[in-house]
Amino acid sequence: MARTINTAVTRIDAPRKVTGAATYAGDVTPAGMLHGALATSAIAVGALTGIDVSKAEAEPGVIAVFTHETLPRHKPVKGFYAGGPGSASFWPMQSAEIRYAGQPIAYVVAQTAAAARRGAQLVEATYDVAGAAIAMDPADSFIVEAEGMELTRGDLAQGLAAAAQTVEAEYVTPFQHQNPIELFSATAEWRGDHLTVWMPSQSVKTLRAGVAMAFDMAQTSVRVISPFVGGAFGSKAGVTPYALLTIAAARAVGAPVRLMVSRSQMYAAATFRPETVQRFHLGADAEGRLTAFRHIEIAQTSQFDAVVNPGTHMTRAMYACPNIHTEQRLSRSDTNSGGFMRAPNEMPTFFGLESAMDELAIKLGMDPVELRRVNDADRHPTEDAPFSSRSLMQCYDAVAAGFGWADRTPEVGSMTDGDWLVGYGCATATYPTSLLASNARVRMRGTGHAHIELAAHDVGTGTYTILAQIAAERLGLPVAACDVAMGEADLPVAPISGGSCTAASAGSAVHDACLRIGRAVAAQVAAMAEGPLSGVDPARITLKDGVLTGPDGQTQPLTEALASTPSGEIEVVGEFRHTAMTDKMIRTTFEGGYGAAGPVTPEMAMFAFGAQMVEVRVHRWTREIRAPRIHGAFAAGAILNRKTAHSQLMGGMIWGIGSALHEATEIDKPRGRFLNENIAEYLIPVNADVREVRVAMLDERDDYVNPLGVKGIGELGIVGTAAAIANAVHHATGKRLRRLPIRMADLV
Ligand code: MOS
Repeated sequence: MARTINTAVTRIDAPRKVTGAATYAGDVTPAGMLHGALATSAIAVGALTGIDVSKAEAEPGVIAVFTHETLPRHKPVKGFYAGGPGSASFWPMQSAEIRYAGQPIAYVVAQTAAAARRGAQLVEATYDVAGAAIAMDPADSFIVEAEGMELTRGDLAQGLAAAAQTVEAEYVTPFQHQNPIELFSATAEWRGDHLTVWMPSQSVKTLRAGVAMAFDMAQTSVRVISPFVGGAFGSKAGVTPYALLTIAAARAVGAPVRLMVSRSQMYAAATFRPETVQRFHLGADAEGRLTAFRHIEIAQTSQFDAVVNPGTHMTRAMYACPNIHTEQRLSRSDTNSGGFMRAPNEMPTFFGLESAMDELAIKLGMDPVELRRVNDADRHPTEDAPFSSRSLMQCYDAVAAGFGWADRTPEVGSMTDGDWLVGYGCATATYPTSLLASNARVRMRGTGHAHIELAAHDVGTGTYTILAQIAAERLGLPVAACDVAMGEADLPVAPISGGSCTAASAGSAVHDACLRIGRAVAAQVAAMAEGPLSGVDPARITLKDGVLTGPDGQTQPLTEALASTPSGEIEVVGEFRHTAMTDKMIRTTFEGGYGAAGPVTPEMAMFAFGAQMVEVRVHRWTREIRAPRIHGAFAAGAILNRKTAHSQLMGGMIWGIGSALHEATEIDKPRGRFLNENIAEYLIPVNADVREVRVAMLDERDDYVNPLGVKGIGELGIVGTAAAIANAVHHATGKRLRRLPIRMADLV
């Protein structure tokens, strides 16, 4: 049987996607469905003094217009946010209060989407306007109240005093919105007390739990369906207010309702990457060994929620240092609540950390790669645990060889090509490995077919394909003979597609199901009167690559063995439970929460690593910035699919170029709102901006993380890219730019 794991298998869902056969949540039209539209607040903070819906109600096709005065209110729900399923604790349209720009103030239901939108435009509101501040004030911040949010090891002052060189600097990253191509939508249908919700989701179990919680229902009365997701990047993880409004409106009108959130409304309807300030104070001895490491992260949060993406937990895991102090701080401003966006804890913090390391290398007169090498750690610097695997320097060595790092001359401005100033920069990437409980039901037929079912998700990452590959290889079937059904909360439990955990967790459950099939079929054929394994002790029959093998070398292909059994088919449920998972973690995951073991367990610290190198060119006269070459090498345990993994990492690096040079959600300070609320002004790298991108995936073995040896790659590729580019810009020009994105104007 040909191997399929660790080969380049084309996505099995690709034909459905390119032909339009894939049904996304917003494609479903239940019988009698009506259309919803949101009218949103024109002010950021204050209160409605009046809302006139008469013109909207008179619009042809409009069935109902709900406001905070007419939409049935929710009872407050404890635990909805902060570890719960909600994306925000504040629910709009419960009172006249306005807390952020773009907050829904009316919900229009109509016979057509166009009529609903026209109705929404005809809603007239008057406001009592209060002052709003959308940009956070880093001077007004507080330490997050939770374990580990402030941490001290050793004596920072002593470490700084002992340092030969120090760097103290502040790095700033902007608001960013995820902007998945598939718009946000929700379709709700009530049948008596039973509710069905179609909504793009990274976590159908979370969505079901949140909806049940919000509407005070049993989870068994809620069905959630989301088989395809057109990009999420963290934004489709929690239960959003617009979904709750749609469910409430559908109940109130007594018909199914679908809401498509417009692109501009998305900026307030879902979540975003909060702006951050990263304060580093590093010290190193003359050999470059870190003697002091201080990192304070200040991240923006809303007035009503504490949006915590603890990046200090990642930076302090990176380099060996005896004296460490970290603080995880928040600063409030007048927005909806932010959330997760690809590598939420790592992308902003590693722009800071890896820029600061570059500054330190320059002060020490060291090669920046060598600075990483002397500070490479074999144990987690603040937790009592060795790394389960850590191939950071192997990544640097691999990427340096292909990139030609040895050709770099360290002096600023020393490399030129005509009118172009050339700079080389590097940075480290890391991403924590989080393991969550997962089940997977696999039904195999002796005719040579397997059906795999679990409540996992494919958010464009290739999950359908990798799960089919695992089953194909274990069961000895072609990938095309393995169907995968996902994206429904009623299927066997699987974790959120977030935190880059799906391949490791859901994949391990599929792996386990296949081994169970092997054992069960072995027991049946061993008990049969005839056949190659007849009479063999079933405990001594093993399954490998789809073949059952007895102790004396007798073999029988699994498919053939299964076909010879009376029923000719079998169904099992596989499980992934890591030894580091507590009962509470497993229960949390089963209830739709995030019950992750890791990245640090009582025994091990589990992280994936990578190294990125970029060539930047800055035009001597125009200051145009180009990134013609960007190379990365990554070690993330076993790679399941070399094509989808390559695409994930390459896509992360390309988005990293965007985060370095293009991307920011601008803010309108006087009006207290996000300014470029559209996709036309959402600057992303296009083909002309992306030239040579090279991705190397190192073979790395990690037997601790899970039986597949997978650590996860979904978010790793974007980490460090922005710092590598900023470092290269410094090398080319001598300008140290500590605020993203870096623009031509910064170099004039
Ligand atoms: Mo990722 S931001 O954990 O969906």
